[in-house]
Amino acid sequence: MDKKLFTRITGLGMCVPPKILTNADLERMVDTSDEWITQRTGIKERHLVEGQTLSDLVTVASREALQGAGLKGEDLDLIIVSTTTPDMQFPSTSCLVQKELAAKKAACFDLAAACTGFIYGLSIANQFITSGTYKNILLIGGEVLSSITDWQDRSTCVLFGDGAGAAILQPTTEERGVISTYLAADGNFADFLKVSAGGSRQPATVETVRQGLHFLKMRGNETFKVAVRAMGEAAKQALASVGLSYKDVDCMIPHQANIRIIKAAAKNLGLDKDKVFVNIEKYGNMSSASSAVALYEAVQQGKIKQGSLVVMTAFGSGFTSGACVIRW
Ligand code: ACO
Repeated sequence: MDKKLFTRITGLGMCVPPKILTNADLERMVDTSDEWITQRTGIKERHLVEGQTLSDLVTVASREALQGAGLKGEDLDLIIVSTTTPDMQFPSTSCLVQKELAAKKAACFDLAAACTGFIYGLSIANQFITSGTYKNILLIGGEVLSSITDWQDRSTCVLFGDGAGAAILQPTTEERGVISTYLAADGNFADFLKVSAGGSRQPATVETVRQGLHFLKMRGNETFKVAVRAMGEAAKQALASVGLSYKDVDCMIPHQANIRIIKAAAKNLGLDKDKVFVNIEKYGNMSSASSAVALYEAVQQGKIKQGSLVVMTAFGSGFTSGACVIRW
């Protein structure tokens, strides 16, 4: 009988554009202060594109992940790009990246689960790998949130950044890698965090642009409360489904939306703060890229080592939420 398959992450990559926007820069753009942004969000600076596209960032991150796994583009069976800010409505950004990587035999699709997209992608890739359908999957979380940011709205423009993080997923017969995933959503909160215009419900017109309906709008305070509950709950469910608890966790990778959400979710879970990875101060919220970039940096910094039990948990527009438990 064939052995049971598990999904391992065998390569990681990341890319943020070189341009940095600091809190001091924002003080000159809107009525805000470094003190307010730091205390309320934990963010000090964020990277923004200057001419680069999402597919440029994704391609750079993907090349690094491929190199880490010792693969070439032509080895890939599937490319998934999680994003809410694709290069264009269609074709998918994953198809544009397939061309750049010369990944001729890869199937491609984009995934829309906002900030939870990387976790949704891990769960989908895990199904393809453990079923034996595909051997080499490239998963990317990438965003150019600056393209949907209203730079005159101080309640949102201080929060977001641009970037991409990539992972190569491959099968193993060892009992390690992705050991559980949990996904959830609640469309009753769809209005809390959205871009209203530019879709088929309200196509872009001169009037929608004049009203700024092509920008991201968020009811921050209400979103905050649901985020704390949902991120803690998702992590608990993913751990409990394989008989584990927070006591077994060596490193938590939470979605990097707000340092206060991260601290509250970790407290809900009962996790010490030294086990919680945070890099929000450098990048802000990069939506689905945040989880991927945080995982990359946690591994680079030695916070995740072979054998570590990692729980990734995220929350985003939809609302969506989800978690993934990985034995590294
Ligand atoms: N600088 C100074 N003051 C500000 C700023 C700013 N940049 N932004 C808002 N304020 C003011 C408000 O006007 C308000 O003033 P008032 O009391 O006079 O009315 C005051 O600060 C407090 O505003 P709140 O919105 O209550 O501030 P809060 O503590 O909730 O922080 C924040 C706002 C940071 C947006 C927080 O609510 C948050 O992080 N929310 C969740 C974000 C999130 O998780 N999003 C989900 C993922 S994102 C995705 O899916 C793309």
